[in-house]
Amino acid sequence: MLVLGIETSCDETAVALYDSERGLLADRLYSQTAMHAEYGGVVPELAARDHIRKLVPLIRELLQESGLCLSDVDGIAYTRGPGLAGALLVGATMGQALAFGLGVPAVGVHHMEGHLLAPMLEETRPRFPFLALLVSGGHTLLADVAGPGAYTILGESLDDAVGEAFDKTAKLLGLAYPGGPSVAKEAEQGQAGRFKFPRPMTDRPGLDFSFSGLKTFTLTTAREHEDDDHTLTDQTRADIALAFQEAATDTLLIKSRRALQQTGHDQLVIAGGVGANKLLRQKFNEMAEQENISVHFPRPEYCTDNGAMIAYAGCLRLLAGESEELAVVVRPRWKLSELKPPGE
Ligand code: KG4
Ligand code: ZN
Repeated sequence: MLVLGIETSCDETAVALYDSERGLLADRLYSQTAMHAEYGGVVPELAARDHIRKLVPLIRELLQESGLCLSDVDGIAYTRGPGLAGALLVGATMGQALAFGLGVPAVGVHHMEGHLLAPMLEETRPRFPFLALLVSGGHTLLADVAGPGAYTILGESLDDAVGEAFDKTAKLLGLAYPGGPSVAKEAEQGQAGRFKFPRPMTDRPGLDFSFSGLKTFTLTTAREHEDDDHTLTDQTRADIALAFQEAATDTLLIKSRRALQQTGHDQLVIAGGVGANKLLRQKFNEMAEQENISVHFPRPEYCTDNGAMIAYAGCLRLLAGESEELAVVVRPRWKLSELKPPGE
């Protein structure tokens, strides 16, 4: 079965073709970051309008690249949520219209299920069941994954998502949007040990996270070291970025180690935009060696938003016979735990 995947939940327009027999055939992505950078964050209305402009040309390029035609497509998968309502509506409308025109089924995919299953696109795949750590701009959660669609949330952020904390830290340090990669780059110039930031909620039992206090600690530290005209030296800015990144990644590591011990899983999947962070990958790979477990990351470009993960997750559901009615319904808020296994 050949599936066209469409992702438009936030500021990336992304499409892919996944075939159940041959695997991933092609994917294309257009990032809107340059447009939103001017505003220091995603402007929802601009995001939606830009998806409208880019989606059709991207699908054309995708088909050309793969040497396939629309009539080869057996099913459509689009991101139904969670995400920005206007942005989601563009992908959902395109997905439903194409499915209707082609006479093939369409499914609306949960964006975080897409992230969670992205490691399945790699050569060494995890086997079910496993533990998953999802770290994106909107979510930070640990889930016990019994199989596709069977997710038990073990812990999640009570306030900011870790990606959001990266983005806010970048903003207060005057670094470019998107914040995660900027903070990581700035941290490369930092001196370890100058600042020690808290590892929130790690001294308490449980698997929930909280990142808003860490963000406030970063702000307070920056204020304390500003000179009279409210600027930081380049070195102090880099030292703060480094201390923040150390604290955020350590916190994720401590909680994940605890979840592995509690569940007894020997495989950990890490997905979502923050999973592209090099320090995080290094720390988790070291932990995997110490604990004798395996850790699975998607390649960095499939940690952040992409069409391949939506095509893959949608394909599982289409193969199980799922299909939506002809209606454009999006779910800007949608809990991962509400999902059911494909076909149920
Ligand atoms: O999964 P994603 O692309 O979109 C959402 O579903 O939210 O994640 C985006 C988040 C942003 O907060 C971004 O700053 C963060 O992932 N991010 C990173 C890195 N690359 C992206 N955070 C830390 N280090 C990175 N290299
Ligand atoms: Zn995402």
